[in-house]
Formats: sequence, structure tokens, C-alpha cells
Amino acid sequence: MKAVHFHRFGGTDVLEYGELPEQPLGPDRVRVRVRAAGVNPIDWKAREGLLAPLMDTLFPVVPGLDLAGEVIEAAPGVTEYAPGDEVMGFLWPDVLGRGTCAETVTAPVRALAPKPASLSWAEAAALPLAGIAAYQSLVHRLRVTAGETVLVHAAAGGVGVFAVQIAVALGARVIGTASEHNHDFLGSLGAEPVAYRRNLTGNVRALAPDGIDAVLDAAGRRALRDSPALLAPGGRLVSVADPQAVALGGGYVFARPDREDLTRLTDLAEKGLLRVELAAVLPLEKAAEAHLLVRDGHTRGKVVLTVD
Ligand SMILES: NC(=O)c1ccc[n+]([C@@H]2O[C@H](COP(=O)([O-])OP(=O)(O)OC[C@H]3O[C@@H](n4cnc5c(N)ncnc54)[C@H](OP(=O)(O)O)[C@@H]3O)[C@@H](O)[C@H]2O)c1
Repeated sequence: MKAVHFHRFGGTDVLEYGELPEQPLGPDRVRVRVRAAGVNPIDWKAREGLLAPLMDTLFPVVPGLDLAGEVIEAAPGVTEYAPGDEVMGFLWPDVLGRGTCAETVTAPVRALAPKPASLSWAEAAALPLAGIAAYQSLVHRLRVTAGETVLVHAAAGGVGVFAVQIAVALGARVIGTASEHNHDFLGSLGAEPVAYRRNLTGNVRALAPDGIDAVLDAAGRRALRDSPALLAPGGRLVSVADPQAVALGGGYVFARPDREDLTRLTDLAEKGLLRVELAAVLPLEKAAEAHLLVRDGHTRGKVVLTVD
């Protein structure tokens, strides 16, 4: 089977596209014919070696954590899925090795959910990691309730677009930071847009003089540092972008594959409450281009690779 892979850390020039052997099928796994693989910032960070201090690496590494595709084989003990089923999910590996930018991948059942017919392959592959990061932040960690004011930093990005819509679905008032060219788009999702390049705190305070109840930071750096001062008394803060949030009195969220959370997200999508914004859909062979787009840090929504 063909896959994008790399044998050493580096720039996009280390990415190759070619044959790799199929993986063995573990007892809790299905083999999936990948139809689309979502691209996340962690993919270029892993390729450049930034995860090497945190986890072991088994070369050749196939990048990619998000997938949507069809089950082509199920291990004998698997009862949840059978060949022909359409699934989606994100795979967090214990060892950096076989990811989803491949014609086939094996996936543990606990990381998957059925793909709703209303989502295209590309939309389904865009949703899992970023959607779960947003959902677990807002629902499990910030415990946002109706009527609260939520601030989402990097609201037009992969995590942010889902976060805005989930917070709106929870009944919150949502303020989202983005560059001006994304403000009408954020408005269409139900958020009040705020510019971040100049006077971020002043811009937010003008909209919410009594303070913010819950901040979800997907930008890091200055956005995170400025956030504690924007909170209302008792306000909560989490970041998915920077663990330094803990030192600021907030929390750090690292998305965990979770079948139930993923199913809640697909339910929202089926009800029309969660739409998937695709910045670019490229063929698998163009993984390098996709990594460069995401590394640039200004895509609206998600970048996805599709497999013929
Ligand atoms: N911990 C986890 O589980 C987890 C999960 C997913 C992602 N992440 C991390 O979270 C971060 C965001 O991920 P993502 O997938 O959302 O990234 P992304 O899609 O690449 O984010 C792009 C967006 O970021 C916006 N942006 C850039 N700098 C900004 C700033 N200073 N203030 C506000 N918006 C800014 C851009 O908006 P404009 O173009 O409008 O400027 C753009 O729309 C990354 O660091 C990623 O590694 C963590």
C-alpha cells in the first residue's frame, strides 16, 4: 500500500510518497481503507522532530492522526464494525509511527465512530481531532453553560471553528478572535468577532466589560498571557495551544480519542448545528503542500488530504 512517510526529521523535503508494507492487525483493531486524512499542526511539529523529546519514534513515520474511510477487515474479536462500514476517528499513537496519510491504516475500535452519511469523506476526516479538542475543552473542562460569555482565541482555525459552534450550541454568547478578513465568517457561525493584532484586551473589554466566563485559547503566546486579566470573577481558562496555561492558573487540554465525544460531535453535525469549514482539499501526494499551508498558521477551518 502507498503512504506518505519520512525516515528522518526535517522540512517538507523529507516527505516521500511510495510503497510501505501493510501493518499487522492487532486484536482490538480494524483495517481501514482511508478515503481522507485530516491535517493538523501536530503533523508538521512531529515531522520537524518537536515531539521527539516527548515520545519514542519508529521510522518510517507515516504522518496524520485524523481519518475517514471504509473498514476492509476486522480482527476476530471485534464486534462493533464489519467490512463495508464507514468510519471516522483520530488515532493518538503511543509511539510515533504509523499514521493516517496512507491507503490503509489499522485503527483501534475505541478511537472510531460511524461516519454520518451527511458528511463527505473530507468533512468527516476534518472533524475528529480538532472537534474533540474543542468539545473536551468546552464541555468537560470549562463546563460551559447557557448564558455564559465564552472567548475563543484563534476562532477561525481548525479547533476554533468547531469551538465557536459547540459553544453556541451550548447556549453561550461567543466572542472569537481572528484577522479582519475572517470577521464576517465568524459572524455567520454565531460569534462576535474581535481583532487580535492590536489592542486585543481593549477590543474584548469593549464587548464584555463585565469579563469573560470561560476562555478557550487555541492561539497561545500573547493571547494566552492576556487572558487571565479578561476573566470575570470565577472565570475559567484552558488552552489547547500551550501548557503554560497551567502556570497562569488555567488548564491545558490535550484531546483524547473518545468514541462517545466523537458521536456527540457527529450528532451535532447531523442536526445542522456543526458545519465543517474546509480551507483546502488536496490529494494525498500533496502532503508537503498541506503541511506548508497549515504551518503558515492562517488557514480558515481545516486542510484535508484525500485518497483515490
Ligand atoms: N492540545 C490539543 O489537543 C490540540 C488539538 C488541536 C490543536 N492543538 C494546537 O492548537 C493550536 C491551534 O490548532 P488549530 O488546528 O486550530 O490551528 P490552525 O487551524 O492552524 O489555526 C489557524 C488559525 O489561527 C488563527 N490565528 C493565528 N494566530 C492567531 C492569534 N495570535 N490570535 C488569534 N488567532 C490566530 C488564524 O486566524 P487568522 O487567519 O484570522 O489570523 C487561523 O485561522 C496549534 O498550536 C495546535 O498544535 C492542540
